[in-house]
Amino acid sequence: MAILRISEVDLIGQRVLIRADLNVPMMSGKIASDKRIQASIPTIQYAINQGARVMVTSHLGRPTEGEFSEENSLAPVADYLRKYLGAPVRLQRNWVSEPFEVVPQELVVLENCRFNVGEKSNDAVLAKQYAALADVFVMDAFGTAHRKQASTYGVAEFCETSCAGFLFLQELDSIHRVMLEPNHPLVAVLGGSKLSTKLPILHALSDKVDQLIMGGGIANTFLKAQGYDVGQSMYEAGFVDQARAIIKKLEQRGASLPKIIDVICGKKFDPNEPAILKKINQMEVDDMIFDLGPESMKGIEATIKDAKTILWNGPIGVFEFAQFSQGTQALAEAIAKSNAFSLAGGGDTISAIQMFDAEKDLSYISTAGGAFLEFIEGKKLPTIEILEKRAV
Ligand code: 3PG
Repeated sequence: MAILRISEVDLIGQRVLIRADLNVPMMSGKIASDKRIQASIPTIQYAINQGARVMVTSHLGRPTEGEFSEENSLAPVADYLRKYLGAPVRLQRNWVSEPFEVVPQELVVLENCRFNVGEKSNDAVLAKQYAALADVFVMDAFGTAHRKQASTYGVAEFCETSCAGFLFLQELDSIHRVMLEPNHPLVAVLGGSKLSTKLPILHALSDKVDQLIMGGGIANTFLKAQGYDVGQSMYEAGFVDQARAIIKKLEQRGASLPKIIDVICGKKFDPNEPAILKKINQMEVDDMIFDLGPESMKGIEATIKDAKTILWNGPIGVFEFAQFSQGTQALAEAIAKSNAFSLAGGGDTISAIQMFDAEKDLSYISTAGGAFLEFIEGKKLPTIEILEKRAV
């Protein structure tokens, strides 16, 4: 089903409420990464340029409803926007209980919506109060697309017009391109410690991909399922059968897993632990796999080179420790070099992309974490559902 796009709505003179995801990481009161703000600016700037009376709100962290806290205030975000936008920016504190004006050519930042009682439970009274502030609601917070809350869902239900902003649409288009209309071969890289928590996504991917490359504890459970001894490596004994079922499903479709030939091991999880290169069939009982070896990576790099579409979520090894980072670095460089459409998302992935300087060479990097994964799993996200409903 289609959703209404911001570009299809006449915004001139309209009161426009944008829900962005300005939930940026903070360190000692300072913004540690401005990526989400930068990604939200095109929609905000567009609405201002169209002559609308523009308000933007977001959550920041997970504060207690009904209690203001400095650490969760959007004040640093408003300061950032003030410096960045060519328009006056004002932070409005009690925006539900106190009346306020919005004039064209300015931006009013509405303080953290999670300070409002009823936000998280999608309280209908609160959602109607939000909706009454605007003629047009613009959902642009893709990072929060999986949350059915008053500022993401309820307001979209009750506002006169509800549409999606540029970032939301761009994120949707990128994930659709990978999951619904991929050019083949489609290669997915999935890292993470527990197969049990990634089962739905593994099932969704194993229905679509041509190659499934895994890292971390998930990969170890698959190695175990393939009959290898993984020593003391983290794996889930109770999920080995599930891993076997996924391997079978892949094979039945003519898809495959990479051949693991060598691994980088250590004896304990420690930043100073020496790295030992071993063949996968030479693991000792007290060995722990912390990365893939160069022979294994050679095959993976060749697979990435041939891919036409790449989905990347999660590192290959313990890339935070230099001696176990080569696998993830080789992967990042191979993806950066590839001509495929490459989509990356998820917290650790972004850190790895930044560490190995691959940012500018990927086709699209999602601003979302949980929402990205839920969408790939094939879940219908509530905010998409309501925007579709409102577009009819
Ligand atoms: C995120 O950081 O993934 C989004 O901003 C959603 O935040 P939440 O998990 O607190 O809803």
